[in-house]
Amino acid sequence: MKATITATAKYLPKRVLSNFDLEKMVDTSDEWIRTRTGIKTRRLVSEGQASADMATEVAKILLERSNTDKNEIDLIIIATVTPDTMFPSTAARVQHKLDAQNCWGFDLSGACTGFLYALETGAKFIESGKYKKVMIIGVDTMSSIIDYTDRNTCVLFGDGAGGVLLEPSKNNNGIIDSILGIDGAGGDSLILPGGGSLHPASADTIKKKMHYVYQDGKTVFKFAVKGMADISSDILKRNNFTGDDVKLFIPHQANKRIIDATAKRCNIPDEHVLINIDKYGNTTAATIPIGMDEAVSDGTIKDGDLVLTASFGAGFTWGSMLIRWGK
Ligand code: COA
Repeated sequence: MKATITATAKYLPKRVLSNFDLEKMVDTSDEWIRTRTGIKTRRLVSEGQASADMATEVAKILLERSNTDKNEIDLIIIATVTPDTMFPSTAARVQHKLDAQNCWGFDLSGACTGFLYALETGAKFIESGKYKKVMIIGVDTMSSIIDYTDRNTCVLFGDGAGGVLLEPSKNNNGIIDSILGIDGAGGDSLILPGGGSLHPASADTIKKKMHYVYQDGKTVFKFAVKGMADISSDILKRNNFTGDDVKLFIPHQANKRIIDATAKRCNIPDEHVLINIDKYGNTTAATIPIGMDEAVSDGTIKDGDLVLTASFGAGFTWGSMLIRWGK
């Protein structure tokens, strides 16, 4: 039995932060950001809005689009590195906001690969035969952990949420294959150092700005370019596909140059590559489901199409998946 995506949804907060706004905040320029990353604007939450709020908006749309009652949901998996609180989980908050009475759920920390980790996890629950409706939501409120005086990171990230409903396929569509990996040796290159059990929050960790994202951009870039290209071409090869077979490549949106290099290596033409980094920046666990929803909503992906996704992120973590779209 294959697990397949039967509905998609996204939520982007309304507040827009443009490159021109950032020019007034740090020593940067619209030209530098556009040419080095591909980003023009990103969205930010409003005062008081957090990850569970965005995820709940996504969950409500998923229920509506799939004609599913909230009490039919078996499991909610939330991929995030910016939970509202360390505990209770964001999944518990979403369950409560939905008032879904027959499910359980948990948060999953895989950074930018979080959504693909969660999709693989959810698919296994469906394939077990015990669960019929699993919600997978990728959400991140990156603005809550970004230092808006650090030009190395503040230009890159945005807030947002996206999600899918997973169900057993009726026509043998769905997830065909996945490659997932982790290597903690890259840990220090992209990290939120403070506030955990290693460096509990204190006046000192705050003073040292350890509650903000630290990134060694060059190291992450080198890893990402090679890693994403390798896993994307490997998963195509081992399933006897080529870039020509891919109707849409939905990559993690961290840097347009990384996406272009991956697509080139897999011989996927530009018109078959989803790019929305210009509008939303890097929304961490949310980039891929937001992309899926855009492509379904505008008719780019239809039933029967082959969809390739790939991601990399803090950890390091990485993943690629091949999906035959349809119920
Ligand atoms: N505006 C202007 N200059 C900036 C800048 C900004 N926003 N951010 C960094 N710079 C500067 C650097 O300080 C550096 O200056 P220096 O040479 O005087 O030290 C210079 O630009 C070049 O930096 P470099 O790191 O070589 O640029 P780059 O071409 O590698 O681009 C990133 C920087 C961050 C865009 C790129 O490394 C990247 O995308 N890395 C991966 C990030 C990523 O994907 N993270 C998420 C993982 S999920």
